Amino acid sequence: MSVSAVIVAAGSGERLGQDRPKALVEVGGEPMVRHAALRLLAGGADELVVVHPARLSLEFARVLDDLVGVTLVVGGATRTGSVRAGVAASDSDAELIAIHDAARPFIPSKCVRMAIASVAGQAIAAAPALPVADTLKRPTPEGRIRTVDRADLWAVQTPQVVRADVYRAVLDWAPGEHTTDDLGLVESAIDAGVVEGKIVLVPGDPRALKITYPRDLMMAEAVLAAERARRG
Ligand code: CTP
Ligand code: MG
Repeated sequence: MSVSAVIVAAGSGERLGQDRPKALVEVGGEPMVRHAALRLLAGGADELVVVHPARLSLEFARVLDDLVGVTLVVGGATRTGSVRAGVAASDSDAELIAIHDAARPFIPSKCVRMAIASVAGQAIAAAPALPVADTLKRPTPEGRIRTVDRADLWAVQTPQVVRADVYRAVLDWAPGEHTTDDLGLVESAIDAGVVEGKIVLVPGDPRALKITYPRDLMMAEAVLAAERARRG
């Protein structure tokens, strides 16, 4: 099935606190957006739409210019706005759309392939996810602390892969919705009876960590160094 991948990279990376947007920050000598692009292509994406901040087209073009099948578009003020811009620019013949955060540069291509395979099979949407490892607490309005059972909780990563016809219908149905999670929109649309079908979670990978704070860069460098050492 043909897959259009949308990499959302239009955030400013405020919490990382560098002099440029997060997607252009280098890990192991290469910008995060390039790491992410290579892994999505290796995982089965037929084209890539990279959504970037306004006025940075040249910088993004420069770091991706040797890759085939890449389109650049300017993003919106929120992640959802950027997702919409990317989906609008993606190939209208693509059967699946895979939305990926540039902030997760080291997604193993195996995870990408598994999410794609699930949607090419039975599901209408799929994403990699990991079991939650931390013990979770919820303070109550009365000032008590409650332990949340983590046994059935999953932390979701990207790419979030959705059947293209389903996702276009969902975005039309929820024109103003802002969410950090694309599957969340599909879940609401299923509940509202707008679309039908099943969402599945496939095994995620700790290497697909999301880079948010400066400390995450150390982890990212370590992930890359371990991969490079294994490859020799
Ligand atoms: N994103 C986007 N457009 C926006 C906001 C976010 O494309 N208007 C993208 C980011 O580039 C990132 C992903 O959505 O790849 C997840 O967002 P986040 O980790 O919050 O990144 P930033 O918004 O860049 O970081 P911060 O919130 O610290 O400014
Ligand atoms: Mg943000």
